[in-house]
Amino acid sequence: MEIRSLKLINFRNYEFLELKFSPHTNIIYGKNGSGKTNLVEAIYILGITKTFRLGNESVIIKKGKNITKIEGLIKDNVLNSYKIVVSEAGKHIKIDNNKISKISDYLTKVNIILFSPDDLKIIKDTPMTRRRLLNIEISGINKEYLTLLNNYNKLLKQRNTYLKALSKKTNYNSNFLNILTEELINTGLKIVNTRDYFITSINKYIKDIYYEITKKGNLSLNYKSEYKNKTKEQLLAMYQKNISREIIIGKTLFGPQHDDIEFIIDKEIVKEFSSVGEQKNSVIAFKLAEIKNIEETLHKQPILILDDLFSELDQEKITNILKLLDNKLQTFITTTEIDFVQKELLANSQIFHVVNGKVKEE
Ligand SMILES: Nc1ncnc2c1ncn2[C@@H]1O[C@H](COP(=O)(O)OP(=O)(O)OP(=O)(O)O)[C@@H](O)[C@H]1O
Ligand SMILES: [Mg+2]
Repeated sequence: MEIRSLKLINFRNYEFLELKFSPHTNIIYGKNGSGKTNLVEAIYILGITKTFRLGNESVIIKKGKNITKIEGLIKDNVLNSYKIVVSEAGKHIKIDNNKISKISDYLTKVNIILFSPDDLKIIKDTPMTRRRLLNIEISGINKEYLTLLNNYNKLLKQRNTYLKALSKKTNYNSNFLNILTEELINTGLKIVNTRDYFITSINKYIKDIYYEITKKGNLSLNYKSEYKNKTKEQLLAMYQKNISREIIIGKTLFGPQHDDIEFIIDKEIVKEFSSVGEQKNSVIAFKLAEIKNIEETLHKQPILILDDLFSELDQEKITNILKLLDNKLQTFITTTEIDFVQKELLANSQIFHVVNGKVKEE
């Protein structure tokens, strides 16, 4: 899959921009603050509908304007035109001029794998960040997953509200609570199985990829979930045993809302043990393993974005990462220093020079 062209109107520091891309490697270079990340962010938003950066939806609108448009032609089997408009009134999404209301359909159409410097948070932050990662990545390859998540969250909220209400009563009928618990377990188990399957798939590739980059260490992911390897009956018993505690605090005590993933290199937990470079390589290995997984399961090639790939990595690791990239893959690499890019790669890439919200093709 590839993005052929991009058009931006009042997006971040771009007032107007029209570009055509190479189906292979695209190198985007320019000084700090020139607009490199903004450019790849626009591509990401076109594929995923949301930014990977912080802030509310309207932060992408150019300062002083009240509407932004992102448009692009993306080729999967066929060429489709994608359009996203964000204004204070909200967000509108269109494929080939047809309005999209079901986000889960849209999300599985365009596969984008992004590495950004912020992704180091995947290792360091709280489990919530890693659950968000799982949710975003699985939603991109599995149409049902987002619906499952929404259903689960609704049930969880309902169950918590009910538990709070019960905490104020002395005697109650437990039928309704039992129904909620069972529904929660049914939906929760589907989520956990889907996550477990995803992580098992990533583990098939991540070790070799990490080794190719670093030439030492065995990387793997460990999925941690209170539901993992438990049957429905065991889970029912677990809730049953703790029901009085749940009622006292008015909150559901177990479930995939607590899930986490651990990155492990040679039995050591990366978060606690590894250097910044090793953490960065672990995350890059994860993203490259996702590409393999998408190729194997969906028989598609995602678009790869590597924002600021070169910072904090030594030349050897950079060379090893670039070697791993299949040249059939459409890739976007941003960098402040064009000199960091090997001559051979430069010769085979389309090069864009960004200066203050303007882009020159070289
Ligand atoms: N909504 C907006 N309106 C106008 N300008 C914006 C908006 N949002 C961000 N900017 C500006 O866009 C500029 C470019 O940001 P961007 O993150 O793309 O830089 P970059 O080229 O990736 O820099 P670095 O090398 O430091 O990563 C920033 O200076 C920022 O102030
Ligand atoms: Mg940047």
